[in-house]
Amino acid sequence: TTVEWEAASYDMGGHDTYMHKEIHEQADAVDRVLRGRIDDRFSTVHLGGLNLDAREARQIRRVKILGCGTSYHAGMIGAQMIEELARIPADAEPASEFRYRNAVVDPDTLYVAVSQSGETYDVLAAVQELKRKGARVFGIVNVVGSAIAREADAGIYVHAGPEVCVVSTKCFTNTTVAFALLALHLGRTRDLSVRDGKRIIEGLRKLPAQITEILDREEEIKKLAEQYAGARSMLFIGRVRGYPVAREASLKLKEVSYIHAEAYPASELKHGPLALIEPALPTVAIVPDDDLLEKNRAAMEEIKARSGRILAVAHQNQEKADQTIVIPKNEDELDPILMGIPLQLLAYHTALTLGRDIDKPRNLAKSVTVE
Ligand code: G6P
Repeated sequence: TTVEWEAASYDMGGHDTYMHKEIHEQADAVDRVLRGRIDDRFSTVHLGGLNLDAREARQIRRVKILGCGTSYHAGMIGAQMIEELARIPADAEPASEFRYRNAVVDPDTLYVAVSQSGETYDVLAAVQELKRKGARVFGIVNVVGSAIAREADAGIYVHAGPEVCVVSTKCFTNTTVAFALLALHLGRTRDLSVRDGKRIIEGLRKLPAQITEILDREEEIKKLAEQYAGARSMLFIGRVRGYPVAREASLKLKEVSYIHAEAYPASELKHGPLALIEPALPTVAIVPDDDLLEKNRAAMEEIKARSGRILAVAHQNQEKADQTIVIPKNEDELDPILMGIPLQLLAYHTALTLGRDIDKPRNLAKSVTVE
């Protein structure tokens, strides 16, 4: 990529790796993506770069989100937020799949291209194809002035600051927050009540302090990582809001530690993965304190009954799990923003224990600008 950030941004600031530095920058980064955008008077947000008036916003009938890797996972979370808060059907798809399947391009769909670098070739090509067919395309991008940002009709910058480590952490978090802003904005032009708007805004404002609270648990997470670093494979499970979190956490672990990891919806366990459960295959369970809590507990019970080990990320201690990383609760819709953060630290410390090249994992590149 051709972007120039201030040289000071590249300073390691006492951290041994950029990944560690970037994980620890997340409270400030989230503060930046929120700054100047909240409108308390109407319980909504202003997104200057959207170029979308209320009438146009109300004409959107679907939202289709495209991205690769971590950005695709952020898009999965974004799709759920848009459905929940704005009640617009939304889904995310890998940009590469979308561009090769001659997808139906619909004028009433809002297409959202997600990219940290703004240079990923598959995403850029999907945007160009969409524009060629007359679609409206938004970008949710970190790097200002990048190719995707220029190609999109409008968009939201996520303001995560420079991300140097090949694997994305703070940019993932900020992208999910940007999606929350978009969902709130679309929701408040439709049927989301003032009360719910306020509730989400209060939740957003709590995020930076809650992120700090999670990062303060690093020593505990490091010890867990040392225990799990010997695993050959790990299973990550979650349901609905927890599922994209499981996907991203499993990607993070495989990217930096090279431990095989697989994510599954907890509800699908009985349709296959239960056959894998044994003491040597630990499971990480995402267990938010929402209306699926009992379902998630039942899934953990299934695993325990087959002598599986479980590490839970939850809002309260989980008796079915061997260990729980307890994290602060936000609004249900915003919980996915926080639930992956302890698992970034888990992936980081696992990789450190195994002596991996954390900032530059083998075979991977920060941005893939070719096919
Ligand atoms: C590469 C990186 C991933 C990243 C993906 C998408 O594969 O290794 O960490 O998630 O590209 O990058 P983007 O810049 O488009 O978000």
